Amino acid sequence: MASITDKFGRPLRDLRISVTDRCNFRCTYCMPKEIFGKDYPFLPKDQLLSFEEIERIARSFVELGVKKIRLTGGEPLLRRNLVELVRRLAAIEGLEDIGLTTNASLLEKMAKDLKQAGLQRVNVSLDALHDHVFQAINDSGVPTKKVLSGIEKANEVGLEVKVNMVVKKGMNEDEVLPMATYFKEKGITLRFIEFMDVGKTNGWDFRKVVTKKEIFDQLFSEFDLEPVEADYIGEVAKRYCYKGTNTEVGFITSVSESFCSTCTRARIAADGKVYTCLFAGGGFDFRELLRSSASDEKVKATIQSIWSERTDRYSDERTEETAKKKNKIEMSYIGG
Ligand code: GTP
Ligand code: 5AD
Ligand code: SF4
Ligand code: SF4
Repeated sequence: MASITDKFGRPLRDLRISVTDRCNFRCTYCMPKEIFGKDYPFLPKDQLLSFEEIERIARSFVELGVKKIRLTGGEPLLRRNLVELVRRLAAIEGLEDIGLTTNASLLEKMAKDLKQAGLQRVNVSLDALHDHVFQAINDSGVPTKKVLSGIEKANEVGLEVKVNMVVKKGMNEDEVLPMATYFKEKGITLRFIEFMDVGKTNGWDFRKVVTKKEIFDQLFSEFDLEPVEADYIGEVAKRYCYKGTNTEVGFITSVSESFCSTCTRARIAADGKVYTCLFAGGGFDFRELLRSSASDEKVKATIQSIWSERTDRYSDERTEETAKKKNKIEMSYIGG
């Protein structure tokens, strides 16, 4: 199937599917407790796409050129029977890669079943190695050892594992070297993520961003790093390896070096809205379409028409003003 392209010639290659807007963590930069408290209006169950609906729309996306699917949340492992969804997606012909982005608090007990169902990769969020720093960030009392044992288990069952660390001023800059040292030793890729202005509740401000350059300088004081060629166009992270090893570190630089020109990602939120940018104000309601009597052809034609009209390049154009945009969706809803 010939791939479809948007207004800037970018093909549709990746699909990120958020399976729940709930999370058992309350990371201060993502779901601050003051906002995501007891009364927060999370999506009721009947508003979530069912597994049948997710499978159907995923199949349509794959028929239009998507090669890679990533399951996200909130925390995707909180979605009941997620293993069953992985199994259904893994059976889609033409799909080459299925990944999951998780906080890993439930990974130790689920890793084996996920792998057997066809999951290939997990990206684990971990922002610090020391408990007092990590617990101040996740605001839910979970210790690092819970996450580290999830990572160990995933590795053991043969899932490819990467670790994501959001770095934010005053939050965890001092954890950069301990994290790098620990994961270098383990031979696991660690990626540093610049704090982004997603949503409208995380108190983002340019001054809180620790840029790739600042992180790189810290690393370079301890380690020799060499750039690694990107594996494919549209790869999110800039990659380096520790000299003389195959172990890598990466940087996700949405703020200091945006990567919109190669952005090939569509996103489905847990309620079935499709967004063509992480910073989009609105999405197209596929739940309505899937629950009407629309044919698969109609679903595909709708995806095609949305993608072909796409002009998103938010990070290329980011300013103090755009960051204050009022209608941005929350990270926990769209899944990053
Ligand atoms: P890989 O397939 O392993 O490369 O995964 P990934 O890095 O694409 O996904 P992951 O869920 O691990 O995301 C890591 C970070 O990159 C998160 O902070 C995401 O929000 C961010 N990210 C992923 N895609 C985009 C994007 O298109 N734009 C921006 N600005 N950030 C993105
Ligand atoms: N900026 C950058 N990364 C973020 N994440 C959550 N919120 C932000 C933000 N504001 C990260 C999570 C996870 C990934 C999906 O996105 O830590 O690793
Ligand atoms: Fe933290 Fe990820 Fe949960 Fe957000 S979705 S609160 S970043 S664990
Ligand atoms: Fe893609 Fe939007 Fe991220 Fe740019 S800001 S890389 S267009 S999702």
